[in-house]
Amino acid sequence: MKSALEIKPDISYKSAGKFEETRFEKIHNEIFKNSAEASVIVAQEIAQLIRSKQEKGKSCVLGLATGSSPIKVYEELVRMHKEEGLSFSNVITFNLDEYYPMSRENNQSYHYFMHQHLFNHIDIKPENVNVPDGTVAIEELNQYCIDYEMNIKNAGGLDFQLLGIGRTGHVGFNEPGSHINSGTRIITLDHITRVDASSDFNGIDNVPKRAITMGVSTIMRSKRIVLMAWGQNKADIIKRTIQGDISSEVPATFLQNHPNATFVLDQSAAVELTRFKTPWLVGECIWTQELKSKAIVWLCQKTKQSILKLTDRDYNNNGMSDLLAQEGSAYDMNINMFNDLQHTIKGWQCGNTNTD
Ligand code: GLP
Repeated sequence: MKSALEIKPDISYKSAGKFEETRFEKIHNEIFKNSAEASVIVAQEIAQLIRSKQEKGKSCVLGLATGSSPIKVYEELVRMHKEEGLSFSNVITFNLDEYYPMSRENNQSYHYFMHQHLFNHIDIKPENVNVPDGTVAIEELNQYCIDYEMNIKNAGGLDFQLLGIGRTGHVGFNEPGSHINSGTRIITLDHITRVDASSDFNGIDNVPKRAITMGVSTIMRSKRIVLMAWGQNKADIIKRTIQGDISSEVPATFLQNHPNATFVLDQSAAVELTRFKTPWLVGECIWTQELKSKAIVWLCQKTKQSILKLTDRDYNNNGMSDLLAQEGSAYDMNINMFNDLQHTIKGWQCGNTNTD
C-alpha cells in the first residue's frame, strides 16, 4: 500500500476548501511530514504554556503519557531546558497510567520511563511529579485512585494532556468497554495491548495483566488535549477514532466531544482518512492517470462489478461525477481503463503488451 506521502502529490483539490476536505472528520487534526517535525511543534506548545503560566506566577499542570509516541517531545523539552533555559519549576505532572503490580525500579515501569526520558534531565521539583504507584496494596487501591483524582483537582485540574493511542483505541489504559464517566481505577489490559507490549517484556507471559489508569472523564476534563500517532500501524485506529461513531468500543472516540482536542499525526498514520484514501469522496480532484486507476479499481470493489459493467450512475453515486464529465461517458472510460490495466499484464496477446 502506498503511504500518504506518495499519494499526496496526486491529490490537488481544485477548489475544495478545508471544510469540504475534512467533512468526514470529527476531531481536529494536523498532519506532518514526519514525527520529528510534529514532536517539535507539540513541545513548543507545551513550552509556551509553561512560560505563559510562569509569567502569571501560576503553576502549569501537565498530564503526561508514556509509550514510544511522546519520546521525541520529551527530547525536545529537555533540549529547550538545557539550551534555552526553559524552567519546569512551576510544573506539576500527573502521568496517565502504570502497570499493576509494578515496582518503580523495574525498567519496564512507567515511573522508570518518565525519569529516564524527562524528569532526570529537567528542573522539576520531585514532589510535583505524580505517576500512579504500581506498588499500592490491592485493598488500598480504591482509595489511592480517589486520592489521585483529588490531587489533580487540588492542583487546579489538568491544563494540558498529552496522549498516545493504542491499537485497541485506548487512551491511557482505558481499554474497550471503558465508560465516558470513568475515573482513575484499576483495569484489566486487553489482549492486543499485552501483545503490543510483549517485546518490551520479553514475552507476553511477563506482561502484567492489569494497570492503574486515569479514567476517560479525568482525561476529558483537561483544558487542552493533544494526541499523537505515528506510523501506518496506527492508521486504522486513527480513522475509526476520527471518523467513526462515538463508542466505548473505541474509547478514544470520546475525544470527539472535547472542545479543544487536536490529533497530531504523521502522514502514514493519516493514510486511511477518507481525504487521502478515497479523495474523490470529499471534493474535486485533479484526475491523474494513477488516481483514475486507483478510483476505478476501488469502484469495482465497492459495486462488485467488473470494469466494463460500470455505469454512469455508479460513477455519479460514488463521488466521480467530475471524472465522468471530463471523460464523456462510462462506456468510453471503462474501455480506456480496461485497456490500460490490460497493458500491465505481461504475456497478453503472446507478449504484445500494446494490443487491445
Ligand atoms: C501504552 C500506554 C498508552 C500509549 C500506548 C501507545 O498502552 N499506556 O498511554 O498511548 O501504549 O504506545 P506507543 O506510543 O508506543 O504506540
